[in-house]
Amino acid sequence: MQERLKELQAEALEKVTQAADLKELNDIRVSYLGKKGPITEVLKGMGKLSPEERPKMGALANEVRDMITGAIEEKQIALEKAAVEQKLAAEKIDVTLPGRPVREGNHHPLTRIIEEIEDLFIGMGYTVAEGPEVEKDYYNFEALNLPKGHPARDMQDSFYITEEILLRTHTSPVQARTMEQKQGKGPIKIICPGKVYRRDNDDATHSHQFTQIEGLVIDENIRLSDLKGTLDVFAKKMFGADREIRLRPSFFPFTEPSVEMDISCKMCGGHGCSTCKGTGWIEILGAGMVHPNVLEMAGYDSKKYTGFAFGMGPERIAMLKYGVDDIRHFYTNDIRFLKQFSVTE
Ligand code: DAH
Repeated sequence: MQERLKELQAEALEKVTQAADLKELNDIRVSYLGKKGPITEVLKGMGKLSPEERPKMGALANEVRDMITGAIEEKQIALEKAAVEQKLAAEKIDVTLPGRPVREGNHHPLTRIIEEIEDLFIGMGYTVAEGPEVEKDYYNFEALNLPKGHPARDMQDSFYITEEILLRTHTSPVQARTMEQKQGKGPIKIICPGKVYRRDNDDATHSHQFTQIEGLVIDENIRLSDLKGTLDVFAKKMFGADREIRLRPSFFPFTEPSVEMDISCKMCGGHGCSTCKGTGWIEILGAGMVHPNVLEMAGYDSKKYTGFAFGMGPERIAMLKYGVDDIRHFYTNDIRFLKQFSVTE
């Protein structure tokens, strides 16, 4: 029995030394030290031994067990350490490798134009206001002096959701909302950028969805000359100091008088070319003095307060500024088009 135990010990220790991984080591533990293992098996024969021999054999069996257990533990630590070292070696980073370039995105050209215009007006003391794209007929038309059945409503074919709710056709309803919020008191100086929607067939110059920027200034003693001065600063900053502006009489139900602003054509310097269709001028935006009806409907006393308003299309401005010939380029998201406006490339 003693020999058998010694044999088992030698055999187990040899296997532990050879074990290549933790799984193999665990298998050795189970097979030698488990309840069904050979040591337990040998000890079953203890009954046949004399009473003097029994404790000696028991002590020996424990010794063998402890030795195997100790060897397994030692080997386990060694194997675990080796595994960590191997992992560290595998994960080693070569800091001398050149980096992979990160592809940078850039702002959409319309976003850039809108931000440029916002900055320009913020610099003149304006704040930015916003309103809902799903709008009430009241704010989109009625409060802007366009009662139901008014023929000028046909100028802006609309997407109606219900009889009283539509997708706003312009950013002008934000004027009406802002004035109403002020409850007829105090000055206003805002611009309102945002998306607008019209039932137009898409082509090179029309889109069923586009953007607008509205401007509104209300105070005592605001005059048409204030509007002209403001638009002149805007045009020169946006298109170049050498640009001239002119105001032409026009019609909008929410302004009286109403004007359209042209800038002198850069291509021909005002002599007339294909860009300006021979006129020397390019139309940029609509504007005017806020109609007394609009002021009164929003709760402003039109004898005390006057104001001017203007509305422009960033698409049109971007097309002129960057020489884009089709409005659909802004919405089809062709990366080759969009990349041309990158500041980093
Ligand atoms: N809302 C007009 C449109 O979409 C543009 C406009 C013209 C806005 C004159 C104004 C304005 O505020 O005074 O055609």
